[in-house]
Amino acid sequence: MTTLRIGIVGTGFIARTHVDAFRRACLLFPEVATEAVVEMVADVELDTARSFAARMAIPRASDDWRALVADPQVDLVDIATPNNLHFPIAMAAIAAGKAVYCEKPLALSTAEAAQMADAAAARGVPTFVAFNNLFAPSTQLAATLIRRGDIGTPVQFIGSFDQGFYSDPDLPASWRTRAGEAGSGALGDLGSHVVSIAQHLLGPITAAAAFDATIFPSRPLPASGAGYGAKATDAAARQPVENDDLVQALVRFDSGAMGSIGASRVVAGRVFGINWEVRGTEGTLYVENERANELHVFRMRDAGDDRGFKTILCGSQVDGFREGFFGFDYGGGGIGYFDVKVLEVRAMLLALRKPERWFCDFAFGRDNQAVVDAIAASARAGGVLQRVGAAP
Ligand SMILES: NC(=O)c1ccc[n+]([C@@H]2O[C@H](COP(=O)([O-])OP(=O)(O)OC[C@H]3O[C@@H](n4cnc5c(N)ncnc54)[C@H](O)[C@@H]3O)[C@@H](O)[C@H]2O)c1
Repeated sequence: MTTLRIGIVGTGFIARTHVDAFRRACLLFPEVATEAVVEMVADVELDTARSFAARMAIPRASDDWRALVADPQVDLVDIATPNNLHFPIAMAAIAAGKAVYCEKPLALSTAEAAQMADAAAARGVPTFVAFNNLFAPSTQLAATLIRRGDIGTPVQFIGSFDQGFYSDPDLPASWRTRAGEAGSGALGDLGSHVVSIAQHLLGPITAAAAFDATIFPSRPLPASGAGYGAKATDAAARQPVENDDLVQALVRFDSGAMGSIGASRVVAGRVFGINWEVRGTEGTLYVENERANELHVFRMRDAGDDRGFKTILCGSQVDGFREGFFGFDYGGGGIGYFDVKVLEVRAMLLALRKPERWFCDFAFGRDNQAVVDAIAASARAGGVLQRVGAAP
């Protein structure tokens, strides 16, 4: 049994899911053979860090992420902060020779992401980017079916991630609406997940053309609360929204496949609207993530009277699920967002024990960021086609 001591930076929405996932991954999956101990947490205010530590039973709290990174009791630095802090925290952790688990999008630019990937490779530290959707049983099963040829050669990907949290014009401004802290808006926050699925299932994306829009140009400053739960008073001063509320891109894959990638944070009614479809020469498959347990597959090779979309309930067919959740060899047990985070952390803990490169590392995050940047550059240029990886 290995002990892995984690220092987590940030105490917001995603930090909670990380603490939960580290604990449940170790409890449910003996094969990780790791005791993951969340040793320390850092936030801007000491009181915030302390109250999170008390609530989550974390032994130590700090108001200085640099102290957390340097702490000899921290083996892995977990970055759960606004996007602009991913780069400096990760670079400091890599320089200290620590493993890094970083939330998405990896950075504010491809140049930063490339520096992070290069530094990690040079120092030989393991890195992980939190593209949790790749560990959803539906995505894992889709990858298996695509790899074994069930839908022939993939020729088209259609995907979008739609949420409705900013469809309320009175939801206050936050780091998410400020370009210096978030980079792009819906694109980096939500669209990067869709790009990760496209990359994973169809390979590298080489070009993009896009439009974007900011639907609500200003938002009130918050009076109380934080993140999705922030509240403003009627008299609150307003702050300009500095990035996109929605984006729509056409993309070209290295394989010759094409597709569309969209994201919106202003689709009223949507919570986890990650919907995607892969169309191949011999079939089609799709997922609507608000019904996350269902993978729909159409195979041309099915006998004529048996042809039609079939719904596979996902779960126990994929790596890990059977051991930790339901022990059947077919799906039906059900899974949700927070369980997917557990499967992601399980995979990460297993990868940490192996010498091979982990697929969802900073190099993957850098390639993801390059697509995000190409989409943003095209939208800025009014839809002009951009090559992925071209200088901004
Ligand atoms: N993978 C996913 O599904 C998913 C979902 C939500 C958010 N995220 C990502 O997680 C990250 C955080 O998002 P969130 O929703 O948790 O945001 P949040 O606003 O809820 O939390 C951010 C936290 O970072 C803290 N912070 C800010 N500056 C800091 C500093 N200098 N030192 C220490 N702490 C600092 C804040 O005080 C807050 O506790 C973002 O990169 C976001 O894109 C990923």
